[in-house]
Amino acid sequence: MARMPPSSASTLIAAAPDFRRALRDWYRQHARPLPWRSSPSLYKTVVSEFMLQQTQVKTVLPYLDRWLAALPDFASLAAALEEHVLKLWEGLGYYSRARNLHRLAKQLAARPAPPRTPAEWQELPGIGPYTAAAITSITFGAPAACVDGNVVRILARLTADATEFRDSASASKVFTPLANALLPTEDPGAHNQAMMELGATVCFRQNPLCLTCPVRPFCAAARRGEPEAFPRLAPKKMEQRSVTRVWSERNGALLLRRAPTGAKRFANMHELPTAEEAGLTVATAERGQLLARKRRGITRYQITESIHRVPASALRKKLQPELVWVPRPQLDAVTLSGPHRRWVRAILAAGTGEEIKTNP
Ligand code: ADE
Repeated sequence: MARMPPSSASTLIAAAPDFRRALRDWYRQHARPLPWRSSPSLYKTVVSEFMLQQTQVKTVLPYLDRWLAALPDFASLAAALEEHVLKLWEGLGYYSRARNLHRLAKQLAARPAPPRTPAEWQELPGIGPYTAAAITSITFGAPAACVDGNVVRILARLTADATEFRDSASASKVFTPLANALLPTEDPGAHNQAMMELGATVCFRQNPLCLTCPVRPFCAAARRGEPEAFPRLAPKKMEQRSVTRVWSERNGALLLRRAPTGAKRFANMHELPTAEEAGLTVATAERGQLLARKRRGITRYQITESIHRVPASALRKKLQPELVWVPRPQLDAVTLSGPHRRWVRAILAAGTGEEIKTNP
């Protein structure tokens, strides 16, 4: 059964023309001059939207610059080697985005013209409803609202919707009809970006800047003085995991594991091997000196990783084929996933000795 909008949603929809105008006027004055806005192109929009899928604007900016200088258009991306693509992505994380973007460029190169509707874009690799709506509304003026966690937060506050959502994806689905009802026919891309901008610079999760918010007169949560009470999301259940990794050096080279080409995660990327990958038991690896201990959250896992120094002589004579000795001067040239790059840098910088605590 279709969900009835709460009454404040109907009130908001009735005020949609005034809401849009307030948002648009504010955006015209306050939009940050971002590279995909000041001189837009389909390619820049696609690359930036992929990078922004799980990463903040300020982190993306230097990556986008480097990317556009190295691979300025779909044709150069389609022709690039995967290693080159992954190297440019190194440090941004969630590497399937880079692989999907690469596949997408190859598929576009085989077509006479890029598709123009959200439904067609969703057929392409790595494109969900949000990215399809962003690309087609910004580039082709398609009437499709972008709804991510930021937009959910704005809409839940505007309507003081107290529904408890299982997760951000299910909340996005529920708020999509309201987001579409608020979308103007003229320049829906600018409206979508204005919503994103409001979420990123005003309607913060904590301590939102209600006093300067351009759409405060439309906001039921601000009227009640409790914006932070919305949206209500069920707390995530985190599972604890621990991983023991090996730091082993031989003749100035570091032991790394290169994930095989066909691997589901991290194909062709290097990481410090786990004890098991290095052919050791966890207990044996943990007898070595503790060099670093790290905690990080990935999806629903809280992972504690410890890195232990293991002398090369303690390793098996015949190592698994994925294990490679990378000479120190070549470490910068191989692609390491972001946290591993930071750990390797920190451990090398510290030399031997103390345990290191690095940020994720
Ligand atoms: N987040 C995702 N897409 C964005 C965009 N186009 N501008 C700002 N932030 C974004």
